[in-house]
Amino acid sequence: MMIKAGIYGATGYTGYELVKILSRHPAVHLLFATSNAQAGQTLADIYPAAPSLSLIAPDDAPLAEADIVFLCLPHAAAAAAALDALAAGVRVIDLSADFRLKDADSYAHWYGHQHPAPDLLAEAVYGLTEFARAELPAARLVANPGCYPTSILLALQPLLCAGAVAGPIIADAKSGVSGAGRTLQHHTQFVEVADNFSPYKIGRAHRHLPEIEQQMRFWNPAAPQLIFSPHLLPVPRGILSTIYVPLQNLAGFRKPARFANTEDNLHQLYHDTYGREPFIHLLPAGQLPSLAHVTHTNRCALALTLAGSTLIITSAIDNLLKGAAGQAVQNMNVMLGIEETTGLL
Ligand SMILES: NC(=O)c1ccc[n+]([C@@H]2O[C@H](COP(=O)([O-])OP(=O)(O)OC[C@H]3O[C@@H](n4cnc5c(N)ncnc54)[C@H](OP(=O)(O)O)[C@@H]3O)[C@@H](O)[C@H]2O)c1
Repeated sequence: MMIKAGIYGATGYTGYELVKILSRHPAVHLLFATSNAQAGQTLADIYPAAPSLSLIAPDDAPLAEADIVFLCLPHAAAAAAALDALAAGVRVIDLSADFRLKDADSYAHWYGHQHPAPDLLAEAVYGLTEFARAELPAARLVANPGCYPTSILLALQPLLCAGAVAGPIIADAKSGVSGAGRTLQHHTQFVEVADNFSPYKIGRAHRHLPEIEQQMRFWNPAAPQLIFSPHLLPVPRGILSTIYVPLQNLAGFRKPARFANTEDNLHQLYHDTYGREPFIHLLPAGQLPSLAHVTHTNRCALALTLAGSTLIITSAIDNLLKGAAGQAVQNMNVMLGIEETTGLL
């Protein structure tokens, strides 16, 4: 039987990626696609290469017929749509930040308004798929991780769980312009971005910081502070994060001692975690990921470089796929018992 799926916010960058994946997914029937401002048009009026799909207003969504919905909406609008869908008995994968933070006060601090549905925060499953497989099949509500958090958390998990981090971690991350969404903004216009490269909200000022640190502490309550410095790259899509991790007990944190050389040791640690993962590509020693390794794929490419007692992890993803729509479909597949890679290879 086909799964009936709806997309809220299909005209946005993540919504359009979902349309492309779900319209060729063999187990899914794309039931509806919403737009607030462009209801009544077709998606092909906006994206000429899109399938011919009528856009409906969010209030007209046929929730009674749906099995699952994807929310590709701004925060707050997403929580309101989640409440409607859950009340209709429909499962929800939210690509916004509305259900990622477990603490409503932290959400109010970082997003500037009270949480619209604080009672749902405890229930929401944080959908970093590789580490959420046990919870996803029973989940009603999945908080799809942010794009920067996906690139940084996948890079850090093995070290945090091994207790190998000695002090503050620095994540220097660069994102293509689609990370800011399709809504017109001064700083993402062509003339501002082309031939330019700029940092923004560096240090401890970006909204993704509490999301990343929350998950770091879930894996290791003694996890150190993160310094997170995002940058805007003059390319349409892709994130490259270069992460500096001071190590402790390098020789001792891994047994058996047959791994004489520490770089082998670290590679083995990451291989143990990710060696069988279909979407995590651990590059051989000496190779480094670039955006070209990952754009238009659901992959995360990781490389390890040891510099004295600091491990430098480079992590690349496509912000619209592994950082958003691709990971959302990976989560849906696990939730519904479909082969995890379906529609994504
Ligand atoms: N871009 C990324 O790389 C990325 C990665 C991970 C997560 N996210 C998150 O995913 C969500 C969507 O991001 P995006 O980049 O796709 O955004 P976007 O390109 O700005 O698209 C937003 C979509 O939401 C619709 N919309 C806007 N306001 C609405 C409202 N009040 N009620 C109903 N619909 C509304 C828009 O429809 P109309 O304009 O047609 O009305 C549009 O379809 C955001 O929460 C974002 O933070 C984005």
